[in-house]
Amino acid sequence: MPITATLSSAAPAKVDADVLAVPVFAGRVLGPGGKALDAATGGSLLAFMAEAGFEGKPDETLAVPAGSDKLGARAAVLVGLGDKKTVSPDRLRRAAAAVVRRTPRAKTVATTLLDSLPPGADRAAAAQALAEGAALGAYKFLRYKQKSDAPALEHLVVLGKKDAATQQALDRGVAVAKAVAWARDLVNEPAGAMTPTQLAEEARRAAEQGGLSIEVLDEVEIANQGLGGLLGVSLGSDQPPRLVKLVYDPPGGAAKGTVALVGKGITFDSGGLSLKPPEGMETMKTDMSGAAAVIGAMSVLREAGVQTRVIGFVPTTENMPGGRAIKPGDVLKIRNGKTVEVLNTDAEGRLILADGLSLAAEEHPDAVIDLATLTGACMVALGIKVAGLMGNDERWSDQVRGAAERAGEPVWPLPLPQEYRKDLDSEIADLKNISGTRYGGALIAGLFLSEFTGDIPWVHLDIAGPARAPSEDGYIAKGGTGFGVRTLVEVLSNFEKPRVAAGKK
Ligand code: BES
Ligand code: MN
Ligand code: ZN
Repeated sequence: MPITATLSSAAPAKVDADVLAVPVFAGRVLGPGGKALDAATGGSLLAFMAEAGFEGKPDETLAVPAGSDKLGARAAVLVGLGDKKTVSPDRLRRAAAAVVRRTPRAKTVATTLLDSLPPGADRAAAAQALAEGAALGAYKFLRYKQKSDAPALEHLVVLGKKDAATQQALDRGVAVAKAVAWARDLVNEPAGAMTPTQLAEEARRAAEQGGLSIEVLDEVEIANQGLGGLLGVSLGSDQPPRLVKLVYDPPGGAAKGTVALVGKGITFDSGGLSLKPPEGMETMKTDMSGAAAVIGAMSVLREAGVQTRVIGFVPTTENMPGGRAIKPGDVLKIRNGKTVEVLNTDAEGRLILADGLSLAAEEHPDAVIDLATLTGACMVALGIKVAGLMGNDERWSDQVRGAAERAGEPVWPLPLPQEYRKDLDSEIADLKNISGTRYGGALIAGLFLSEFTGDIPWVHLDIAGPARAPSEDGYIAKGGTGFGVRTLVEVLSNFEKPRVAAGKK
């Protein structure tokens, strides 16, 4: 359920809430509101923390016996923030989520967390992160559970000096969290329910809510438009493919450039005839996480006041081994005319992205980002929390990297070594879809994609690892994480053309 986040200038000991959450820095140093809480609860907080072994480390929480008539809140909780000098927006995001998880029955949570920033820190960024953390900490996918055990949070009351910019940042955080939660829902929905047709319907809802225009191509139009990668991958499935195009035109008409997004929308990846083993298939409903990130992010661009024009492409299909499935050795023709020999049908993401990137390039945008759960190799390289970033333009890569860092979504650059390009040479077609070695799989996939971007500044995010979480972690819930939504909203909100048009330098 969507929450509200509001600034309040109430005194910590007086605020009316179910729970008052007060930060504690490393070494049991009470944060803002700590003294007031201590006074209202009998003056034994320090001894109580020591007794309970609570040190003020990030993610630590400690419920404080309250129920005193000197405290406005019905209960109180301490939350660790770690080293005082290095408190960051992301630390606040985590802390807010920890508080919400620790107090699942509280509808109204008041906190002094915003005032625990070191001097000179970006207050708006911190407020946004705080709202995101609280809202995402309350997220659970409950559609198929009879009983709900999700945190009851409805209102986050942020104690601190009231000003319009900070309130706006709180609202923005709530909106972004709603977009992330939506992306998580799309990913968590079983593949039997989230078919390509259904994913396209979800994109329609996003378009309605976010003031986007939308076009959906069906299987006949996909064939007519020459989207041979998407069509080829879809042949083994009884579910028809879709190609979704979403367009966001900023109000006022004076867009600061155009960015195209492409999201991998494989609603289930069985591997096709190059069938995956059972364990490899268990989580393959997650294989549309790139699409979910694009749809989620685009649903909130208007609310976030983005001034960049954005065109989103979502090629979506199942990858199944039906009787009409493509066979190893088959050749597909991609939208931009290049032919691909498919030697492994489990390397399907790059085939549908090739069409998506070709369509994106035809729009002549100023920059492109694709997001895809593309390779197991990227997880081997970077683990399950860090996305791989590849690209063809350093300024654009840096811009996306910076946005990801501010958004608290870890990404790390990987190279696209031209030395490996010849590994994609095919005997009979322009390219083959695998290299034939296990090594450097994420880079090979990136090199493959680079054949379809034209010379437009392009970034590829391989989110195979962070798209899904095997366990709860901070503001991340088990299952789909919605990874990429926050980075996209952040980079689009601050977009600068990576290349200045010729003659304008
Ligand atoms: N969707 C998978 C990649 C993946 C694997 C994502 C595990 C998340 C978790 C992708 O389509 C795939 O199967 N890639 C193959 C490529 C290989 C055949 C070259 C892979 O990584 O094994
Ligand atoms: Mn695959
Ligand atoms: Zn896949």
